[in-house]
Amino acid sequence: MSKDIPIVQKVARSVSNSWSNGIAGLSSSPTTSFHSPQASFPGLQRSNTTQKALKPFDTKDIKVLLLENVNETGQTILREQGYQVEAIKSSLPEEQLIERIKDVHVIGIRSKTKLTAKVLNSAKNLLVIGCFCIGTNQVDLKTAASLGIAVFNSPFSNSRSVAELTIAEIIGLARQITDRSAELHAGIWNKVSAGCWEVRGKTLGIVGYGHIGSQLSVLAEQMGMQVIYYDVVPLMALSTSKQIKDLETLLSKSDFVTLHVPETADTNNLISTAQFAQMRSGSYLINNSRGSVVDIPALIEAMRSGKLAGAALDVYPNEPGGNGDYFNGSLNNFTDDLRSLKNLILTPHIGGSTEEAQSAIGVEVAQFLVRYVNEGTTQGSVNLPEVTLRSLTIDEPNHARVIYVHKNVPGVLRQVNNVLADHNIDKQMTDSRGEIAYLMADISNVKPDELKELQHNLTASSAHIRTRILY
Ligand SMILES: NC(=O)c1ccc[n+]([C@@H]2O[C@H](COP(=O)([O-])OP(=O)(O)OC[C@H]3O[C@@H](n4cnc5c(N)ncnc54)[C@H](O)[C@@H]3O)[C@@H](O)[C@H]2O)c1
Repeated sequence: MSKDIPIVQKVARSVSNSWSNGIAGLSSSPTTSFHSPQASFPGLQRSNTTQKALKPFDTKDIKVLLLENVNETGQTILREQGYQVEAIKSSLPEEQLIERIKDVHVIGIRSKTKLTAKVLNSAKNLLVIGCFCIGTNQVDLKTAASLGIAVFNSPFSNSRSVAELTIAEIIGLARQITDRSAELHAGIWNKVSAGCWEVRGKTLGIVGYGHIGSQLSVLAEQMGMQVIYYDVVPLMALSTSKQIKDLETLLSKSDFVTLHVPETADTNNLISTAQFAQMRSGSYLINNSRGSVVDIPALIEAMRSGKLAGAALDVYPNEPGGNGDYFNGSLNNFTDDLRSLKNLILTPHIGGSTEEAQSAIGVEVAQFLVRYVNEGTTQGSVNLPEVTLRSLTIDEPNHARVIYVHKNVPGVLRQVNNVLADHNIDKQMTDSRGEIAYLMADISNVKPDELKELQHNLTASSAHIRTRILY
């Protein structure tokens, strides 16, 4: 039950208690403070002078399984919370994953671990999934939401790395650098200038002017390129770049076309035979977005016909699950054709693979996980409604935070408020996303022995998915 924990420097009173379905019992934790997120996420910042750090369990009880070599920065943040962290370098096949996930409250993965409905249904204690990467299509998000499991990722921590790789490729293609290098590795001296260009004064066409596309435009302009971009939404231009009203016009005006759109039904084969025909003769295509965005057989045709002077691909429709000699015809049937083409830069999905990006992803996702476990905040979640409440303070010692994930059906709020009615509801927020709703409420004057009853009554509703009480 709740314990008075000595106040540290008269500011923070750390408590560490919770009721949660799926995790038995109440316990207390050592004093520990919450890690403030980076300054680049101002909405997440908070003062730590009067904040009461909610801790859901004895933190030693929180079991975290990290797969796929999650960056040390993330591991450190989770370990500093006192959680039991096990880190494994590889992903796990489904059967092993089902065994290992049964116990854990938090799982951290990257892109290769598949969290299917079957896996998630066996994860009886799982509260939250951290995707220490950009994409989340390796997780069955709908099933996770229906089980009240939040999913977080780090969509934009590696934007700069992708933008810089693209700059390298623009120059690399214009100067045929990878061909010259491969020749010299093979002992062949081939000093040529025909078909090699400066990029200064050339036009870069950016498709998708989001986090990556817009940063890229600034870098490209610094090299003297003219930048135009096409996006499905009107977006303010950075620097002197110009938005173009349609893709066809952009393709016809660009010396270099680079793709930075998400993978959606609309972007599937966005660049195919018709679009290659609209491009300038002797132009270049770069795809560092997703493998489905370019029709690769059509690209091979455009390269062979000389329509394209070069291309760079970082992403492919099918990508191997690990490193090795897997880039062959059994992966994608056009692979051998790609490997035979000149001035085609092929990279193994390394756009975001820098030390800086991995480190930033580790920090951002770990902070999301800690905030969710300790405070219930879903801000940044990709599958639950985003709900947050300001922190409780040390002046609110007998408060409890109720977190209630429930089906989005009429009448639930009335039921919840009936259950909470004997307490003052200091603040409450609820939001829904599709079939799932998420409620947070801070209630005052709660006696420890009332928590069990509160938990029991909230769980009784047919709309209930998951209830946690932090205090
Ligand atoms: N190669 C890598 O390692 C790597 C790393 C990070 C991101 N990515 C990929 O890069 C892509 C862009 O990432 P981001 O962070 O800039 O995304 P973002 O969401 O910030 O920007 C995407 C932009 O594309 C626009 N868009 C959507 N559909 C479009 C369409 N049909 N035509 C034109 N514009 C469209 C959106 O309006 C948005 O402005 C994503 O596919 C992402 O998965 C790859």
